[in-house]
Amino acid sequence: MAIQAEEISALIKQQLEKFDTTLTVEEVGTVTYVGDGVARATGLANAMAGELVEFTNGTYGMAQNLESNDVGIIILGKYDDIREGDTVKRTGRIMEVPVGEQLIGRVVNALGQPIDGLGEIKTDKTRPVEVKAPGVMQRKSVSEPLQTGIKAIDALVPIGRGQRELIIGDRKTGKTSLAIDTILNQKDQNMIVIYVAIGQKDSTVRTQVETLRQMGALDYTIVVNAGPSEPAPMLYLAPYVGAAMGEEFMYNGKHVLIVYDDLSKQATAYRELSLILRRPPGREAYPGDVFYLHSRLLERAAKLSDELGGGSMTALPFIETQAGDVSAYIPTNVISITDGQIFLDADQFYAGVRPAIDAGTSVSRVGGDAQIKAMKKVAGTLRLDLASYRELESFAQFGSDLDAATQAKLARGRRTVEILKQPLNKPMPVQQQVLVLYALTHGYIDDVAVEDIQRFQDELIAYVDANAADLYKTIVETKSLPEEADMNQAIESFKATFASSVSDEQE
Ligand SMILES: Nc1ncnc2c1ncn2[C@@H]1O[C@H](COP(=O)(O)OP(=O)(O)O)[C@@H](O)[C@H]1O
Ligand SMILES: [Mg+2]
Repeated sequence: MAIQAEEISALIKQQLEKFDTTLTVEEVGTVTYVGDGVARATGLANAMAGELVEFTNGTYGMAQNLESNDVGIIILGKYDDIREGDTVKRTGRIMEVPVGEQLIGRVVNALGQPIDGLGEIKTDKTRPVEVKAPGVMQRKSVSEPLQTGIKAIDALVPIGRGQRELIIGDRKTGKTSLAIDTILNQKDQNMIVIYVAIGQKDSTVRTQVETLRQMGALDYTIVVNAGPSEPAPMLYLAPYVGAAMGEEFMYNGKHVLIVYDDLSKQATAYRELSLILRRPPGREAYPGDVFYLHSRLLERAAKLSDELGGGSMTALPFIETQAGDVSAYIPTNVISITDGQIFLDADQFYAGVRPAIDAGTSVSRVGGDAQIKAMKKVAGTLRLDLASYRELESFAQFGSDLDAATQAKLARGRRTVEILKQPLNKPMPVQQQVLVLYALTHGYIDDVAVEDIQRFQDELIAYVDANAADLYKTIVETKSLPEEADMNQAIESFKATFASSVSDEQE
């Protein structure tokens, strides 16, 4: 029987298709420079931006500057035994980190490796560290509140889920404390928190983790830590790593809060490694793309559309200023990227007004839409009251005769400032905030001595809990204000029992 030519070619084709070569081609380059967390290598002409490369000592690096004859590599780990002339090979993979539920309650480094001594993290899910942020069509406008539990924020500069709100202030003005209190308040709020500590003292981070653990907040929190003693690439990467971990939850329909504490230190680390990579320095010696460093990070915070599950990631980036100067390069950049900013004022902080939120310069451009109705109602005029108080206060210092109306305004202002003070680690649920602010704006606190206000507040909250808890229930369930008559009655009957120590003395 004759064999047909087509049959032979079909057979050969078939065999060819099945032919499986075991030969793998590895692209290997040579290290030409190494130092300060950065290396350069030749011979990796096809490397992708952000691709992982492996050094002979097992350390990984990330390809950065792709130039025609060499690439810059940021080294992700030990580099004291990497030498010029060593080989370095491509992996063909973009850098990814472990993600998923298993990370919750853990402290990890910028590579997602555990550093809390609690053993291995068993997760098989990973996500790329750098991804494109969701586009316009994938987003929805911000509509649900993120309750921080801090009266001055929830009332004056409310934050919505999916928003990016900058926290800015000098060192030691209570920025980190705000973050920790906000995290504590996410308990039972159906939130997952990622706290990214960048260049913070290890002892500080340890204390914060302990606080979170003691208050039960580690049950829903992941801590990513890149300490000041780590190489600059770790500090540069940590925020993106945190964002990748957050995205895993957001894209599964969950709500995430991510805190970047702080991006000034990330920018400094980026400047350092850019200078070593010999990128041209620009303003304040930052490389030209330092704006993009933060914009591509913060764009990843979003409120997703319903088709994508409606999840959200709210970002609270922190910036540390020098002597309150918000017009420096990095602060102005980040101010322009975010949906508002909360200024912490050093003078107020030292005068004992804590949290030291400057109501005049702090804004939230989208959060107001997300405030619950009851809060909107009681907080409506608070901002103006405060602003006019600050103005009057400077007049009043001249000691001129003040008319009754001015005096009343001053008295109310002083009480407003007092009410907005809040001790550490005491976030306040929104229903209690509404009650207290209602009492304030309806004049029930005007005759309480300033020294007694904190006690008045605490006792009022407890009294309503014991005698009129329905009020709280209504606020929580309907999100609107209960009948004013019921509010008034509860507050009046409380006042009848409240012993004001100072006014007793005066009488
Ligand atoms: N609301 C507050 N009440 C009392 N003390 C506070 C308050 N907020 C911050 N502090 C104290 O101020 C100090 C500095 O706060 P921190 O949050 O570390 O500032 P930053 O992060 O801005 O450097 C801490 O010792 C903290 O205990
Ligand atoms: Mg801090």
